[in-house]
Amino acid sequence: MERFWWKEAVIYQIYWRSFQDSNGDGVGDLKGILSRLDYLEKLGVTVIWLNPCYPSPQVDNGYDISDYCGIAPEFGTMEEFDTLLSELHARGMKLVMDLVVNHTSDQHPWFVQSRSSKDNPYRDYYIWRKGKDGAPPNNWGSHFTPSAWEYDEATDEYYLHLFAKEQPDLNWENPKVRREVHKIMRFWLDKGIDGFRMDVINLVKKPEGLPDSKLPPSTKEGFSFDNELYANNPGLVEFFREMKEEVLSRYDVMTVGETARVTPEYALQYVGEPERLLSMVFHFQIVDLRDNFTWGKFKALQRKWTNALWGKGWASQFLQNHDQPRCVSVYGDDGKYREKSAKMLATLLHTLPGTPYVYQGEELGMCNTPFTDISQYNDINAKFDYDEMLAKGKSPEQALAVLNRYSRDHSRTPMQWDESANAGFTTGKPWLMVNPKYTEINAARQMQDENSVWNYYRALLALRKEHPVMVYGEWTEYEPEREDVYVYTRTLDDERWLVAVNLTGTPTQVTLPGAVNGTLKRVLGNEADLSLKDGVLTLRPWEAVIAAF
Ligand code: GLC
Ligand code: CA
Repeated sequence: MERFWWKEAVIYQIYWRSFQDSNGDGVGDLKGILSRLDYLEKLGVTVIWLNPCYPSPQVDNGYDISDYCGIAPEFGTMEEFDTLLSELHARGMKLVMDLVVNHTSDQHPWFVQSRSSKDNPYRDYYIWRKGKDGAPPNNWGSHFTPSAWEYDEATDEYYLHLFAKEQPDLNWENPKVRREVHKIMRFWLDKGIDGFRMDVINLVKKPEGLPDSKLPPSTKEGFSFDNELYANNPGLVEFFREMKEEVLSRYDVMTVGETARVTPEYALQYVGEPERLLSMVFHFQIVDLRDNFTWGKFKALQRKWTNALWGKGWASQFLQNHDQPRCVSVYGDDGKYREKSAKMLATLLHTLPGTPYVYQGEELGMCNTPFTDISQYNDINAKFDYDEMLAKGKSPEQALAVLNRYSRDHSRTPMQWDESANAGFTTGKPWLMVNPKYTEINAARQMQDENSVWNYYRALLALRKEHPVMVYGEWTEYEPEREDVYVYTRTLDDERWLVAVNLTGTPTQVTLPGAVNGTLKRVLGNEADLSLKDGVLTLRPWEAVIAAF
């Protein structure tokens, strides 16, 4: 298998608005990140992925960009950005930026031009259509509004927006648009950045003729949200191929596509070797399980993906990001066994095949925030979902209960640095409330405690650097049908590791697989020892073990 730095990496996601504020305005910034580089280095992070930090009206927290080659003033200056990049490189770390090119902000000069008249040279940068009998051109719903179309009086036409109406979709059929995208990519790559996380990149190719969705309406206004129709359309691969030829093949960089509705079959078209149009993709088949989540399904999906991709294309592993709630609250136990279960999850994240992504605060076992009122939410998506739920007859309490399970704001609350006011995030008023648990769960405390979640992550990150088996080792699963345990081996040359975890808060036992004969030597675990007797491993609540054999 070909070896690349990005296969060996551990990628740490910085949601900068919530990472560290340096000037008391309540919003994280570049100087704040600069002041925390020691922290990241100590943790052992090798790559940073920075959420979009370009000038933006911030309708969708930076995913609505009005200038692709600038730095948001609340974040800092280009000079500070250059310092960040060189400081990271000096410490042997790399930087991956967010590339958000399915849509721009409606304040982007291209769109301002585009909407001004039908014969403006930028008209065709976006997707404009006439209405149908006084209604939008088709029945598409958007992620954040009922209809995916917005009527624009100036020219009596509608424009397409798969997200907020302030996020008009670019028209990728126009070669000029694609050239602009390539130019933006080169701008940052020539500065020396190390790659891109590509926002909703498998949505850029729209289906031919923009046909109506056949799905029943999903909004009260009668629009249908149809990710199937929006994603992975024929011709997308040609766009990727062009991007690779024109730009990516000329740099030693990594890319990770954010690809909703991707299956292993589609993924292989994007990451398949040797063409490797993208280095890897994020699939959402696990997080999309939501209320239907079971560990059996989790295991089945991991199996399906690994069997399909192993040796053919690289995978990614993540348990959360800025669009998902906190993983310990979703998959673990954020009460009594918070630390234990957070470490168990970390073990899976770092030993299942693929490059692990750690989201800020995950290394502390940060958990969901008990929001009690809609006014405490910031996310445009939360507000839209809340209104839709009320419109469909849910009570405010019921709607809040749903948001409290899945809101994106759970991961966006400020980083918990220490037990001082506002968790050490800001001296001002934080833009989003701080999780009240910060006095108990914070970095300062955990860095001093050798048994903390933080130190467990640190150990995992260090292991990945020393043991290629963790990256390139063959993966073999045992006890696939059991829902209470996850047992597998990773093997590479002389290195053979067993990973065994208890997925529940109840003790259980595992008979060691036949392949594992001889003694087990504990590499890491969330208990101080191994409880092994006559070939039977007892796993205490949420126990995770990595052992060499
Ligand atoms: C991606 C981002 C999300 C954003 C959306 C629209 O899913 O991760 O935060 O709202 O794209 O750009
Ligand atoms: Ca600030």
